[in-house]
Amino acid sequence: MEVLIVDTPEEAAAFAASAVLDGLRAYGTGNPVLGLATGSSPLGLYAELAAAAQRGEVDFSAARGFALDEYVGLDDTHEQSYRQTLIREVCNVIGLPESGLNVPNGNGETVAQIAEQAAAYDEAIKAAGGVDVQILGIGANGHLGFNEPASSLRSRTRIKRLASQTREDNARFFDGLDQVPTHCVTQGLGTVQEAGRLVLIATGSHKAEAIAAAVEGPLSASCPGSVLQLHPDAVVVLDEAAASRLKNRAYYDDAAAGLQFGI
Ligand code: GLP
Repeated sequence: MEVLIVDTPEEAAAFAASAVLDGLRAYGTGNPVLGLATGSSPLGLYAELAAAAQRGEVDFSAARGFALDEYVGLDDTHEQSYRQTLIREVCNVIGLPESGLNVPNGNGETVAQIAEQAAAYDEAIKAAGGVDVQILGIGANGHLGFNEPASSLRSRTRIKRLASQTREDNARFFDGLDQVPTHCVTQGLGTVQEAGRLVLIATGSHKAEAIAAAVEGPLSASCPGSVLQLHPDAVVVLDEAAASRLKNRAYYDDAAAGLQFGI
């Protein structure tokens, strides 16, 4: 795992975008296949990717995107559905066509149907040749995607119940807590780990505890973010506030300085 700590959220966005672009070069075998996260954390990163595309360093016009997760029971035209959120916040920003955007289907007649669609989503990722680079945020409770604490570290895309903290955190996007769906379909932690590179960005002191648990805590389903410890190419980009509870800070800085000199 590479842990890169910078002064500001803006610098974190720029470094995370570089890690994404390097990852696309390392793992891409054609047009980019990006794993996409919603949330406020990666917004600056997406803006940096848009700038890189404008400079001609990358082209997302034939890219494919695979969302991490979607709410159950929200129409995919609902403005808070993750499909619409990703169209607004990613597709329209970086120039990834809507036709290339894949989002888990959280609607169906029965739970069994939604479960089948979830399994088909994993197959669609495989058929695309796998995700080259998975962009990640982290929940204050350590969740990745919507893999809440106690999620199996080998889980596949499936239906999950949302934690009450997650529903409260996301209530600001809805007309009240009772409007927030109770369930979601999320890529599993096993699915996420199949991406070539993972790039997690976190900023702000409200993420410090989750980051400490994910980076330095035990590998544990109690902190789904700790699954990054199992991945051979995980990059964690933090601002000072999000890094404030890390104990092994000096080593991360030494290692990052080495990286800059290509050692
Ligand atoms: C959401 C998403 C996650 C995201 C997290 C953090 O619930 N499902 O993928 O990482 O919350 O969001 P934010 O970056 O806004 O703090």
